Amino acid sequence: MAEGLRKGLTSYGDAGFSLFLRKAFIKAMGYSDDALDRPIVGITNTYSDYNPCHGNVPQILEAVKRGVMLSGAMPFVFPTISIAESFAHPTSMYLRNLMAMDTEEMIRAQPMDAVVVIGGCDKTLPAQIMAAISADLPTVVIPVGPMVVGHHKGEVLGACTDCRRLWGKYRAGEIDDAEIEAVNGRLAPSVGTCMVMGTASTMACVTEALGLSLPMSATIPAPHAERFRSAEASGRVAAAMAKAKGPKPSEILTPASFRNAQVVMQAIGGSTNGLIHLTAIAHRSPHKIDLEAFDKLGREVPVLVDLKPSGEHYMEHFHHAGGVPKLMAQLGDLIDLDAKTITGQTLREVVAAAEDVPGQDAIRPRQNPIKAEGAMAILHGNLAPRGAVIKQSAASPKLLQHTGRAVVFESVEDMALRVDDPELDVTADDVLVLRNAGPKGAPGMPEAGYLPIPRKLARAGVKDMVRISDARMSGTAFGTIVLHITPEAAVGGPLALVKNGDMIQLDVAKRRIDLLVDGAELKKRLAALAPRATPDWAKRGYAHLFNETILQADEGCDFDFMRVGGKE
Ligand code: FES
Repeated sequence: MAEGLRKGLTSYGDAGFSLFLRKAFIKAMGYSDDALDRPIVGITNTYSDYNPCHGNVPQILEAVKRGVMLSGAMPFVFPTISIAESFAHPTSMYLRNLMAMDTEEMIRAQPMDAVVVIGGCDKTLPAQIMAAISADLPTVVIPVGPMVVGHHKGEVLGACTDCRRLWGKYRAGEIDDAEIEAVNGRLAPSVGTCMVMGTASTMACVTEALGLSLPMSATIPAPHAERFRSAEASGRVAAAMAKAKGPKPSEILTPASFRNAQVVMQAIGGSTNGLIHLTAIAHRSPHKIDLEAFDKLGREVPVLVDLKPSGEHYMEHFHHAGGVPKLMAQLGDLIDLDAKTITGQTLREVVAAAEDVPGQDAIRPRQNPIKAEGAMAILHGNLAPRGAVIKQSAASPKLLQHTGRAVVFESVEDMALRVDDPELDVTADDVLVLRNAGPKGAPGMPEAGYLPIPRKLARAGVKDMVRISDARMSGTAFGTIVLHITPEAAVGGPLALVKNGDMIQLDVAKRRIDLLVDGAELKKRLAALAPRATPDWAKRGYAHLFNETILQADEGCDFDFMRVGGKE
């Protein structure tokens, strides 16, 4: 099999000429024949001035290159799309599959024997792992690492759980303009990803549990020297994989590794977004995420990591407490320790090397969990025939069984316009309903599921209400919030049938979400629904592809033709 520079020659009808031409051009960079004869490690560069979460990528690149060269291989850095959560319109989720396609095709198109993907900001690691599985080249994943914490008036702050909490206080009139400005400069005190258990942290931990990154790589803070030593070590591992031609993602990812990832996701109090991403990742392989099995696992797996928004600490505390290896050690027989990792070690060896940190309280023992059940529960009912998710670990216990009157918002724009209207007919016992905010509806399934408490209620001291939608929510948010209702309203899901004043019943213990309206009436409402026409935004380009092929949340919101077997 061709390797190094001989791989994937450009087609000119003469392989010898193709190689001759390739070498002639690359020599313009000053490389020697010795350098060009080495196995090649491709390295993705996802640095962007628009992506502060990836602000340490240039230093990581240098460290990876050093590791590759110290091990006798040749590094080639190449750019891919970079997506920053707060700089992506309409949403970063809208662009995840584009990044996955870009990364996959550039791995395929360019000669490399192994690849290092460097990502972190929310949708980037999922996109890169989806790409790596589809390309099935030996891959090392490097998360950029979490930010260090901020401080304000003696309080520890973290993006973005505290962004939301303090913004809520500002909306309620509890803090003034000057203070919210001061807070704005202190929430993100360094480069790196959000340092609470949001999607970025969740996916970094999931990556480590899948065996696709080095031990501890999920939690090392972005600016720390250890982050760059880990990157150098990742470069060495990638060089070894390039020489050995493996292991490939298909050799590492098994039903056991996906189960381990789900156990870790529940035990860290992971982001609900993580479930969509893990589902999409699994759909790129022959393995699947079964929502029922995920829910069942949630009943067995306790939340052990004491991190915001489910708990109190931040990623750097999790790291100093022993990180994912220590967590997996505490999880004991819930983890399949025979699962393999990119280093050739099994998780048994990773767990055996976990550091014991006396007095740490960020990773709890199994007999003293943060929550006895896992972070997420899967709901079904006449409102969500294909499922919905609630992060019960971040919800108000008293609202987990609740029946209330629906207050319906037709879209994200409608909600923005009316939620603070003093005339809005709403009480604290009502259920706020947002629809047309799913994968197709918005589009890109915005993180709008964290509906704000109507201002008049917030000012009266209401901190939480039952809120339901077909949208997503940032993993950094908290509240009694039902998300990813599937099918979404825009494709005719039952959420489209809810009317103001209908009663909605949430029963998390029974895993139910129901609209208390009789079946005959719902049939009548369904028959009266106008079929969805192609919206103007979806008439051309990537938007067209997105609108035509995006799958629902229970299938990971990948494009239907990108799954392992292609379009069904
Ligand atoms: Fe990039 Fe939170 S905004 S990880």
